[in-house]
Amino acid sequence: MREVPPIERAAQVLRAGGLVGFPTETVYGLGADAENPRAVKRVFTVKGRPASHPLIVHIRDARELEDWALGVPETAFRLAERFWPGPLTLVLRRNFRVPRVVTGGLETVAVRVPGHEVARSLLSAFGGGIAAPSANRFGAVSPTTADHVREGLGSGVDYVLDGGPCLVGVESTIVDVSGDAPTILRPGGTTRENLERALGRSLPVHAESPVRSAGQLPLHYAPVARMVLVDADQVLREAKRWQGEGRRVGLLLPPGSLPADTQGIGHAVIAVPGDMTEYAGCLYGFLRELDHRQCEVIVASLPTPEGLGLAIADRLRRAAGPRRCLVP
Ligand code: TXA
Ligand code: MG
Repeated sequence: MREVPPIERAAQVLRAGGLVGFPTETVYGLGADAENPRAVKRVFTVKGRPASHPLIVHIRDARELEDWALGVPETAFRLAERFWPGPLTLVLRRNFRVPRVVTGGLETVAVRVPGHEVARSLLSAFGGGIAAPSANRFGAVSPTTADHVREGLGSGVDYVLDGGPCLVGVESTIVDVSGDAPTILRPGGTTRENLERALGRSLPVHAESPVRSAGQLPLHYAPVARMVLVDADQVLREAKRWQGEGRRVGLLLPPGSLPADTQGIGHAVIAVPGDMTEYAGCLYGFLRELDHRQCEVIVASLPTPEGLGLAIADRLRRAAGPRRCLVP
């Protein structure tokens, strides 16, 4: 019997209403046929995600935009042309064809064309839109390898395509172009500076938008360990303090610190890269590693919010958000 190639097998699973873990350039997604409400509902169940938090529809290219959105503004086409395929999601007015379960009842829909070859091949083989959130349990750290998907979701996912580690490492930037003025709803893999350059205008970052966005919840992308953020020059002192209280402390050592200074401080020490693109690529891996080493507290500092530093700072802040959301 002919062995079915992985991409074809994954497309079959989607057509049958199943769920597929697949790589994108940002993080792994948990995909379902965007036009099959039952399959999409299962995504929410498997993730443990509230039904009010909408999913992103992944499409092949910008020519399909109007299949999913109505009244697509010029700004959206300009951004699509410049940044797709790539780590950018556009929020637009929903076309009636989009099932409500995908948009969490909102009148807008989030759409993106991913840049990863495997994701693109899957979209071509499947032929339709793939609704996919990040392939992790709600609130947990996003997966950047196929193993993370299997570890996090187990038998909840029917098939996992392995495309190696994700290179960007943080989720796509979400830009809302459904209203009068474009705004960033979630900083991510496409930098604010590049978006502003392409549009020739400044883009506000709206942490508190009238539109609900799961990425806007205070506690998200969180490791199990408690995340403590301090100024870069206070990281060692803070780590020492927690250690003095008998805690297993993990350090994300800011660039410029001398690892030699950490002698005897901290249970696990990771020196973070000074290059923000490199740091973004490793960020979730670092958080997983510190959890794996059973750190109880992670002490870190925020990078300058420029380039990918904006997305990194956003994720670290959310990881440090109120614990009560994580453990009910
Ligand atoms: O890089 C990414 O964006 C990854 C890969 C798999 O594409 N996906 C991802 O999906 O991060 P998810 O579901 O974890 O995050 C999508 C975010 C959520 O915060 C959701 O609330 C927001 O997009 N979103 C979706 N539809 C929206 C809408 N109509 N208006 C505002 N926010 C929306
Ligand atoms: Mg997510």
